[in-house]
Amino acid sequence: MLSLAFIVLSLGTALPLAAATGLPDVLHRDVVVIGGGASGAYAAVRLRDDFNKSIALIEKRDRLGGMVNTYVDEKTGATYDYGVQSFLNVSKAAEFFARFNISIGSGSTSPSLITEYIDFNTGKKVDFTPPSSSKQLAAIAKFLKVIEPWESMLSPGYWNFPQTNNIPEDFLIPFGEFLTKYGLEDGAPLIYSTTGLGVGNMSEVATMFALQSFGWDMARGMTGKMGLFSPTSGGNQALYNAIAKNLGDDVLYSSTVIDSRRTEFGVSLAVRNHKTNKVTRIIARRLLVAIEPTEVNMKPLDLSPSEWNTLSKFTYSNEFTGLVDNAVFNTSYYYFNLPSTAAPNHYLVFQDEPMVASFQYTGLEHLFRVMIIGNTTSTADEAKVLAQNSFNTLLKSGRLSKSIRDQKLSWAAFSMHGPMHARVSVDQVKCGFFQDLYKLQGARSTWWTGGAFSANFQTQLWQFDDGLIPKILEGL
Ligand SMILES: Cc1cc2nc3c(=O)[nH]c(=O)nc-3n(C[C@H](O)[C@H](O)[C@H](O)COP(=O)(O)OP(=O)(O)OC[C@H]3O[C@@H](n4cnc5c(N)ncnc54)[C@H](O)[C@@H]3O)c2cc1C
Ligand SMILES: *[C@@H]1O[C@H](CO)[C@@H](O)[C@H](O)[C@H]1NC(C)=O
Ligand SMILES: *[C@@H]1O[C@H](CO)[C@@H](O)[C@H](O)[C@H]1NC(C)=O
Ligand SMILES: *[C@@H]1O[C@H](CO)[C@@H](O)[C@H](O)[C@H]1NC(C)=O
Ligand SMILES: *[C@@H]1O[C@H](CO)[C@@H](O)[C@H](O)[C@H]1NC(C)=O
Ligand SMILES: *[C@@H]1O[C@H](CO)[C@@H](O)[C@H](O)[C@H]1NC(C)=O
Ligand SMILES: *[C@@H]1O[C@H](CO)[C@@H](O)[C@H](O)[C@H]1NC(C)=O
Repeated sequence: MLSLAFIVLSLGTALPLAAATGLPDVLHRDVVVIGGGASGAYAAVRLRDDFNKSIALIEKRDRLGGMVNTYVDEKTGATYDYGVQSFLNVSKAAEFFARFNISIGSGSTSPSLITEYIDFNTGKKVDFTPPSSSKQLAAIAKFLKVIEPWESMLSPGYWNFPQTNNIPEDFLIPFGEFLTKYGLEDGAPLIYSTTGLGVGNMSEVATMFALQSFGWDMARGMTGKMGLFSPTSGGNQALYNAIAKNLGDDVLYSSTVIDSRRTEFGVSLAVRNHKTNKVTRIIARRLLVAIEPTEVNMKPLDLSPSEWNTLSKFTYSNEFTGLVDNAVFNTSYYYFNLPSTAAPNHYLVFQDEPMVASFQYTGLEHLFRVMIIGNTTSTADEAKVLAQNSFNTLLKSGRLSKSIRDQKLSWAAFSMHGPMHARVSVDQVKCGFFQDLYKLQGARSTWWTGGAFSANFQTQLWQFDDGLIPKILEGL
């Protein structure tokens, strides 16, 4: 029988030179988790503290929290979350904050702003009037009724995703067509401006992927059927800092896997700290992958051709958020990008990607949150150039409080979110993609969580983890 010792030995021969300068530390763990964002950090805490399993968490950055980005104003200590903004009260989410003594509140400190619709390509005002807020909310309530019967097929996760013949027809039609079919167009501006933007062309994307970016719990949250909260102090990073403190040395920061061997008996990973170059070998009975399964991320993971054949079908989007500072912005405004063809009330017409979605006042000094929606290949540098170009267009066309040619935007913060919104083509869905994807669960001692395997929200991923953990623990 192939033993763990054998795995160690065979991996040893594959270890790169850096390790040859000294024997790497070897850690033996029940479960090793890759990725310390929403899904990985949560799973690590629960596995170790609630199920008494030894863990190691590998995180490439020097902090936990992934897409959470909390800006701290050095002068006043005030915080602003320019990445993840709030948590849906899904399942036991509130309890998870309580265990770290983090008080939560619903009080949004965002200032109330005038939304101005502008075509950022031309700088012209768009005479667009969204439906009244009561009409928007009525549409979202109706939307929830329409989608309610399908919840267990997509949430949390694809465990019950139907076989080809039973996939609801509505899942695979373009989302714009779906909204029109059920008379839900009034809901489109809210869906788009909150979390729908970023999933690709929202009018064209298959409905099931739009539902993963704004589905049941968002509809409940928007219509008051489910709470939305965030920490009362310290911003959203406060939670992940508390998790970091709790997990202590069980987290390997600034680290990625450089080599691995996965078998049905366990896994052996070589992990390099990119600051110290130190290589640690982790031998574990189970692996939980909590990063997006992209080519770059998967490269050191010893994928079989059939594993890669499935995972390589995903396409992703890139979103970018940051804080920009320039005194010519008017702090009364939320500058929102729409094409001129959206006027006066075409709710399903959106700007093509890549594009800057908005500049929104934060309430802090002159800082505006900028949201940039890239395409599958957009880079951080391209996103910053887009923001600068849009800003110049707004300046030149007199949309800001001064009309001058151009000026530099100053960046107080910037974050790349992506690859995210993993999705596949309608044909692939029909050919059993999600059944193939879930066959990976548990194979070669490896389990999978994160946005590509569930819905793209913090607490929904926690709920997904809660369902996954008993499976991971079977036989452990
Ligand atoms: C602008 C924006 C706003 C959002 N707002 C909200 C919101 O208000 N509420 C909400 O619920 N959700 C929100 N979301 C969605 C939410 O952030 C995601 O659903 C969630 O973060 C996904 O969690 P994850 O664990 O899959 O990935 P992530 O949270 O991205 O975590 C992945 C982690 O793995 C690390 N990592 C990546 N690659 C490697 C590697 N190769 N090796 C080691 N570590 C690696 C990363 O550094 C990161 O820490 C928002 C997303 C964006 C982009
Ligand atoms: C936790 O696990 C350790 C190691 O397996 C074991 O010695 C200990 O008794 C366990 N504690 C509890 C409370 O189950
Ligand atoms: C939370 O507060 C309680 C009571 O003050 C304390 O016993 C506990 O250790 C605290 N937990 C954390 C994670 O700080
Ligand atoms: C979250 O939901 C639970 C019930 O599931 C409820 O007891 C609690 O008050 C809610 N908290 C918030 C902040 O919405
Ligand atoms: C987005 O979808 C709409 C509706 O199908 C279409 O008219 C538009 O051309 C699409 N945009 C891009 C960039 O594909
Ligand atoms: C993404 O946008 C850039 C800039 O417009 C463009 O050059 C590139 O071809 C686009 N990529 C895809 C995959 O559409
Ligand atoms: C900012 O906008 C408000 C509201 O339209 C307006 O009253 C104010 O004069 C503007 N400020 C500047 C500096 O342009």
